[in-house]
Amino acid sequence: MLERVKEIYQEIEHFDVQTKEQLEQFRLRFVAKKGVVAELFDSLKQVPQEDRRAVGQELNSLKDLAQQRFTDYKATLENSQEETASAVDLSLPVVPNQTGAIHPLSLVRQQIIHIFERIGFSVADGPEIETDWYNFGALNFADNHPARDMQDTFFVEKKSEGSAADVLLRTHTSNVQIRLMERQKPPVRAIMPGRVYRNEAISARAHCLFHQVEGLYVDRNVGFKDLKDTLYHFVKELFGKDTQIRFRPSFFPFTEPSAEIDISCLICKGKGCNVCKYTGWVEIAGSGMVDPNVLTNCGIDAEEYTGFAFGMGIERIAMLKYQIRDLRLFTENDVRFLRQFEGA
Ligand code: DAH
Repeated sequence: MLERVKEIYQEIEHFDVQTKEQLEQFRLRFVAKKGVVAELFDSLKQVPQEDRRAVGQELNSLKDLAQQRFTDYKATLENSQEETASAVDLSLPVVPNQTGAIHPLSLVRQQIIHIFERIGFSVADGPEIETDWYNFGALNFADNHPARDMQDTFFVEKKSEGSAADVLLRTHTSNVQIRLMERQKPPVRAIMPGRVYRNEAISARAHCLFHQVEGLYVDRNVGFKDLKDTLYHFVKELFGKDTQIRFRPSFFPFTEPSAEIDISCLICKGKGCNVCKYTGWVEIAGSGMVDPNVLTNCGIDAEEYTGFAFGMGIERIAMLKYQIRDLRLFTENDVRFLRQFEGA
């Protein structure tokens, strides 16, 4: 019998009470009328008369211990509950949840992608560190052609075996056209957004790092009319139905014929202001029919297929759309500027 009393002592010592449920288990096992301690009291009758007093004393202290522990555990649990209850004051106003704003360049890129996706263009991607071949050669820039000087290139590595292998930071997204046509046979219809680099002094109007979106559609019987249709649609969707568009003859090595696309100035509505330099028009993109040499360079039969291409600067479009006068604002991370695009 004394052995059993010892066991229960041990059990009480080791019983872990952290939760209300454990407290209840403790009560049922050691304190309740049907618990083990009460059971021992019942079997006291069977203890020989001469030992009964000693065993009875042990049992009484066991019972006291169980009761004491129970009261202590209960008090601790109730206190900790009170503490947590007072730590959370549900009547306090919530801390405002400050959400970030989408960067205006991301916003404009998303809008452009969305417009073109709805008319069947997919989105393609390509490397920013590129070889001369993909950035210039395959795009029909002849070696030493002055057109290469149009874009001030950051070279990463000059190779001795000829310029095609030189490594550079791409100066435009047109490299993705080549990579796409190499791996996908017509019909090819995609836009290619991405970062580009040019060695230019940073000012309100120029930066050494900016973003472009390239567009390409190659299939049988693609004509200049398709280019015009597509870009008219795009301009009206992005800038509004009343925007006027004009195609101005131009030159790019990779397109023939080529055209620059102007839209009526969004600020003065064509009347003339300092943004449009009093012409009423602002340029937003270059475009043209893909030069047959470019198709051939990508292994596409230029007799069977034709295509159009266009390219535009995302910063320029964002500046026109949101009337931002300084390009540097895009990279300065001034939250007062960025917050203006919250919820846009
Ligand atoms: N790559 C030209 C630039 O960076 C933009 C451009 C013009 C892209 C005409 C084209 C195009 O695809 O057809 O200035």
